[in-house]
Amino acid sequence: MMRLGVNIDHVATVRQARRSHEPDPVTAAALAFQGGADGITIHLREDRRHINDRDLRILRETVPTGLNLEMATAPEMMAIAIGAKPDQITLVPEKRQELTTEGGLDVVGQFAVVKNAVRMLQDAGIVVALFIDPNVDQVRASAECGVTAVEFHTGAYAEARNPVAVAGQMATLRESCVLAHRSGLHVHLGHGLNYINVKPVVRLPHVEELNIGHSIVARAVLVGMAQAVRDMKTAMSEHFPKQV
Ligand code: PXP
Repeated sequence: MMRLGVNIDHVATVRQARRSHEPDPVTAAALAFQGGADGITIHLREDRRHINDRDLRILRETVPTGLNLEMATAPEMMAIAIGAKPDQITLVPEKRQELTTEGGLDVVGQFAVVKNAVRMLQDAGIVVALFIDPNVDQVRASAECGVTAVEFHTGAYAEARNPVAVAGQMATLRESCVLAHRSGLHVHLGHGLNYINVKPVVRLPHVEELNIGHSIVARAVLVGMAQAVRDMKTAMSEHFPKQV
Protein backbone atom coordinates (compact mmCIF):
# COMPACT_ATOMS: atom_id res chain seq x y z
CA MET A 1 0.00 0.00 0.00
CA MET A 2 1.29 3.46 -0.92
CA ARG A 3 2.23 5.58 2.12
CA LEU A 4 0.90 9.10 2.71
CA GLY A 5 3.23 11.58 4.37
CA VAL A 6 1.21 14.58 5.50
CA ASN A 7 3.13 17.84 5.22
CA ILE A 8 2.00 20.11 8.08
CA ASP A 9 4.11 23.19 7.21
CA HIS A 10 1.04 25.29 6.49
CA VAL A 11 -0.47 24.64 9.90
CA ALA A 12 2.63 26.43 11.17
CA THR A 13 2.17 29.12 8.49
CA VAL A 14 -1.19 30.03 10.05
CA ARG A 15 0.38 30.11 13.52
CA GLN A 16 3.24 32.33 12.33
CA ALA A 17 0.80 34.78 10.72
CA ARG A 18 0.12 35.94 14.31
CA ARG A 19 3.37 34.77 15.96
CA SER A 20 0.95 32.87 18.19
CA HIS A 21 0.90 29.42 19.76
CA GLU A 22 -2.01 28.12 17.65
CA PRO A 23 -2.68 26.12 15.59
CA ASP A 24 0.06 23.85 16.89
CA PRO A 25 1.58 21.60 14.20
CA VAL A 26 2.27 19.01 16.89
CA THR A 27 -1.48 18.66 17.51
CA ALA A 28 -2.06 18.62 13.75
CA ALA A 29 0.39 15.72 13.45
CA ALA A 30 -1.50 13.71 16.07
CA LEU A 31 -4.80 14.36 14.25
CA ALA A 32 -3.22 13.47 10.90
CA PHE A 33 -2.28 10.08 12.33
CA GLN A 34 -5.86 9.67 13.58
CA GLY A 35 -6.96 10.21 9.99
CA GLY A 36 -4.61 7.51 8.71
CA ALA A 37 -1.39 9.36 7.85
CA ASP A 38 1.59 7.03 7.52
CA GLY A 39 4.08 9.76 8.31
CA ILE A 40 4.57 13.46 8.94
CA THR A 41 6.63 15.70 6.68
CA ILE A 42 8.02 19.07 7.74
CA HIS A 43 10.36 21.52 6.04
CA LEU A 44 12.66 23.37 8.41
CA ARG A 45 13.60 26.41 6.36
CA GLU A 46 16.59 28.60 7.04
CA ASP A 47 14.27 31.59 7.61
CA ARG A 48 11.94 29.53 9.91
CA ARG A 49 8.95 30.99 8.10
CA HIS A 50 6.70 28.16 9.30
CA ILE A 51 8.14 25.09 11.07
CA ASN A 52 10.66 26.00 13.78
CA ASP A 53 13.23 24.19 15.92
CA ARG A 54 10.75 23.66 18.77
CA ASP A 55 8.32 21.91 16.37
CA LEU A 56 11.05 19.57 15.16
CA ARG A 57 12.13 18.76 18.72
CA ILE A 58 8.62 17.95 19.96
CA LEU A 59 7.61 16.12 16.78
CA ARG A 60 10.72 13.96 17.12
CA GLU A 61 9.56 13.09 20.65
CA THR A 62 5.93 12.47 19.72
CA VAL A 63 5.98 10.99 16.20
CA PRO A 64 7.06 7.41 16.79
CA THR A 65 7.86 6.57 13.19
CA GLY A 66 7.68 8.19 9.77
CA LEU A 67 9.05 11.66 10.56
CA ASN A 68 10.39 13.03 7.28
CA LEU A 69 12.42 16.23 7.49
CA GLU A 70 12.86 18.29 4.33
CA MET A 71 15.88 20.55 4.41
CA ALA A 72 18.67 22.18 2.42
CA THR A 73 22.28 21.00 2.62
CA ALA A 74 23.34 24.14 4.56
CA PRO A 75 25.77 23.38 7.43
CA GLU A 76 23.33 24.71 10.07
CA MET A 77 20.61 22.31 8.87
CA MET A 78 23.00 19.39 8.71
CA ALA A 79 23.94 19.89 12.36
CA ILE A 80 20.30 20.21 13.46
CA ALA A 81 19.27 17.14 11.47
CA ILE A 82 22.06 14.95 12.78
CA GLY A 83 21.10 15.98 16.33
CA ALA A 84 17.36 15.42 15.81
CA LYS A 85 17.64 12.12 13.91
CA PRO A 86 14.37 12.10 11.96
CA ASP A 87 13.41 8.79 10.36
CA GLN A 88 14.07 10.22 6.91
CA ILE A 89 15.58 13.34 5.44
CA THR A 90 14.58 14.63 2.04
CA LEU A 91 17.18 17.03 0.73
CA VAL A 92 15.61 19.93 -1.15
CA PRO A 93 16.89 23.11 -2.78
CA GLU A 94 15.99 26.30 -0.97
CA LYS A 95 15.73 29.91 -2.06
CA ARG A 96 14.73 32.60 0.41
CA GLN A 97 12.43 34.48 -1.99
CA GLU A 98 10.45 31.47 -3.20
CA LEU A 99 6.87 30.91 -2.05
CA THR A 100 7.42 27.17 -2.04
CA THR A 101 10.12 24.76 -3.29
CA GLU A 102 10.23 25.73 -6.95
CA GLY A 103 12.24 22.95 -8.53
CA GLY A 104 14.15 19.81 -7.72
CA LEU A 105 17.65 19.60 -6.33
CA ASP A 106 20.34 19.88 -9.02
CA VAL A 107 22.20 16.70 -8.09
CA VAL A 108 24.12 16.74 -11.39
CA GLY A 109 25.37 20.31 -10.90
CA GLN A 110 26.07 20.01 -7.16
CA PHE A 111 27.17 16.40 -7.09
CA ALA A 112 30.05 16.74 -4.61
CA VAL A 113 28.03 18.84 -2.11
CA VAL A 114 25.01 16.54 -2.28
CA LYS A 115 27.06 13.34 -2.06
CA ASN A 116 28.94 14.66 0.96
CA ALA A 117 25.68 15.66 2.72
CA VAL A 118 24.16 12.25 1.94
CA ARG A 119 27.18 10.46 3.40
CA MET A 120 27.15 12.57 6.59
CA LEU A 121 23.44 11.90 7.17
CA GLN A 122 23.77 8.20 6.41
CA ASP A 123 26.72 7.95 8.80
CA ALA A 124 24.33 9.34 11.45
CA GLY A 125 21.95 6.46 10.68
CA ILE A 126 19.35 8.53 8.80
CA VAL A 127 17.59 7.34 5.62
CA VAL A 128 18.08 9.93 2.86
CA ALA A 129 15.92 10.85 -0.12
CA LEU A 130 16.62 13.50 -2.77
CA PHE A 131 13.85 15.76 -4.10
CA ILE A 132 14.54 15.96 -7.84
CA ASP A 133 12.81 16.78 -11.09
CA PRO A 134 11.74 13.73 -13.09
CA ASN A 135 14.79 13.74 -15.31
CA VAL A 136 17.07 10.90 -16.44
CA ASP A 137 20.36 12.63 -15.55
CA GLN A 138 19.14 13.63 -12.09
CA VAL A 139 17.98 10.06 -11.40
CA ARG A 140 21.36 8.63 -12.47
CA ALA A 141 23.28 11.15 -10.35
CA SER A 142 21.02 10.40 -7.35
CA ALA A 143 21.71 6.68 -7.67
CA GLU A 144 25.46 7.45 -7.78
CA CYS A 145 25.09 9.39 -4.52
CA GLY A 146 23.98 6.17 -2.85
CA VAL A 147 20.65 7.49 -1.53
CA THR A 148 17.77 5.22 -0.56
CA ALA A 149 15.03 7.10 -2.39
CA VAL A 150 14.16 9.93 -4.73
CA GLU A 151 11.08 12.10 -4.46
CA PHE A 152 10.00 13.35 -7.86
CA HIS A 153 8.75 16.95 -8.00
CA THR A 154 5.20 16.73 -9.34
CA GLY A 155 4.80 20.52 -9.68
CA ALA A 156 4.99 20.54 -13.50
CA TYR A 157 2.37 17.77 -13.63
CA ALA A 158 0.12 19.63 -11.17
CA GLU A 159 0.41 22.82 -13.20
CA ALA A 160 -0.26 21.22 -16.60
CA ARG A 161 -3.43 22.87 -17.85
CA ASN A 162 -4.59 20.77 -20.82
CA PRO A 163 -4.86 17.03 -21.54
CA VAL A 164 -1.83 16.97 -23.87
CA ALA A 165 0.38 18.68 -21.29
CA VAL A 166 -0.92 16.40 -18.52
CA ALA A 167 -0.23 13.30 -20.63
CA GLY A 168 3.29 14.56 -21.37
CA GLN A 169 4.04 15.13 -17.69
CA MET A 170 2.60 11.73 -16.78
CA ALA A 171 4.83 10.06 -19.40
CA THR A 172 7.89 11.84 -17.99
CA LEU A 173 6.98 10.79 -14.45
CA ARG A 174 6.36 7.19 -15.55
CA GLU A 175 9.77 6.92 -17.30
CA SER A 176 11.51 8.43 -14.28
CA CYS A 177 9.74 6.06 -11.86
CA VAL A 178 10.82 3.06 -13.95
CA LEU A 179 14.41 4.27 -14.24
CA ALA A 180 14.66 5.04 -10.51
CA HIS A 181 13.31 1.62 -9.61
CA ARG A 182 15.74 -0.05 -12.02
CA SER A 183 18.55 1.91 -10.42
CA GLY A 184 17.64 0.48 -7.01
CA LEU A 185 15.95 3.61 -5.68
CA HIS A 186 12.67 3.80 -3.78
CA VAL A 187 10.23 6.20 -5.43
CA HIS A 188 8.32 9.01 -3.70
CA LEU A 189 6.31 11.84 -5.26
CA GLY A 190 5.22 15.22 -4.00
CA HIS A 191 4.31 18.82 -4.64
CA GLY A 192 1.05 20.33 -5.80
CA LEU A 193 -0.91 17.10 -5.45
CA ASN A 194 -4.58 17.53 -4.61
CA TYR A 195 -7.76 15.46 -4.29
CA ILE A 196 -8.24 15.39 -8.07
CA ASN A 197 -4.78 15.17 -9.63
CA VAL A 198 -3.70 12.47 -7.16
CA LYS A 199 -5.92 9.89 -8.88
CA PRO A 200 -3.78 9.17 -11.98
CA VAL A 201 -0.60 9.47 -9.93
CA VAL A 202 -1.37 6.51 -7.70
CA ARG A 203 -1.33 4.30 -10.82
CA LEU A 204 2.27 5.21 -11.68
CA PRO A 205 4.65 2.25 -11.30
CA HIS A 206 6.87 1.69 -8.24
CA VAL A 207 5.62 4.69 -6.24
CA GLU A 208 5.76 3.95 -2.51
CA GLU A 209 5.14 7.32 -0.87
CA LEU A 210 3.30 10.58 -1.57
CA ASN A 211 4.03 13.73 0.40
CA ILE A 212 1.07 16.10 0.36
CA GLY A 213 0.59 19.30 2.32
CA HIS A 214 -1.19 22.34 0.97
CA SER A 215 -4.33 20.65 -0.35
CA ILE A 216 -4.84 18.69 2.89
CA VAL A 217 -4.36 21.72 5.13
CA ALA A 218 -6.63 23.77 2.83
CA ARG A 219 -9.35 21.14 3.09
CA ALA A 220 -8.92 20.84 6.85
CA VAL A 221 -9.63 24.57 7.21
CA LEU A 222 -12.84 24.29 5.20
CA VAL A 223 -14.25 21.04 6.58
CA GLY A 224 -13.56 22.30 10.10
CA MET A 225 -15.05 25.80 9.62
CA ALA A 226 -18.70 25.11 10.56
CA GLN A 227 -17.67 23.26 13.73
CA ALA A 228 -15.21 26.00 14.69
CA VAL A 229 -17.98 28.62 14.40
CA ARG A 230 -20.40 26.43 16.40
CA ASP A 231 -17.76 26.13 19.14
CA MET A 232 -17.35 29.93 19.28
CA LYS A 233 -21.13 30.47 19.49
CA THR A 234 -21.25 27.96 22.34
CA ALA A 235 -18.40 29.75 24.16
CA MET A 236 -20.25 33.08 23.73
CA SER A 237 -23.66 31.79 24.83
CA GLU A 238 -22.26 30.08 27.93
CA HIS A 239 -21.06 33.43 29.28
CA PHE A 240 -23.75 35.75 27.93
CA PRO A 241 -25.54 37.42 30.93
CA LYS A 242 -28.87 35.70 31.59
CA GLN A 243 -31.98 37.91 30.98
CA VAL A 244 -34.28 38.17 34.06
N1 PXP B 1 7.52 17.37 -1.06
C1 PXP B 1 8.45 18.35 -0.98
C2 PXP B 1 9.88 17.97 -1.13
C3 PXP B 1 8.09 19.68 -0.74
O1 PXP B 1 9.03 20.65 -0.68
C4 PXP B 1 6.72 19.99 -0.55
C5 PXP B 1 6.32 21.40 -0.24
O2 PXP B 1 6.84 21.78 0.99
C6 PXP B 1 5.79 18.94 -0.62
C7 PXP B 1 6.21 17.65 -0.89
C8 PXP B 1 4.32 19.18 -0.42
O3 PXP B 1 3.83 20.00 -1.43
P1 PXP B 1 2.35 20.56 -1.33
O4 PXP B 1 2.28 21.43 -0.11
O5 PXP B 1 2.19 21.33 -2.61
O6 PXP B 1 1.45 19.38 -1.21
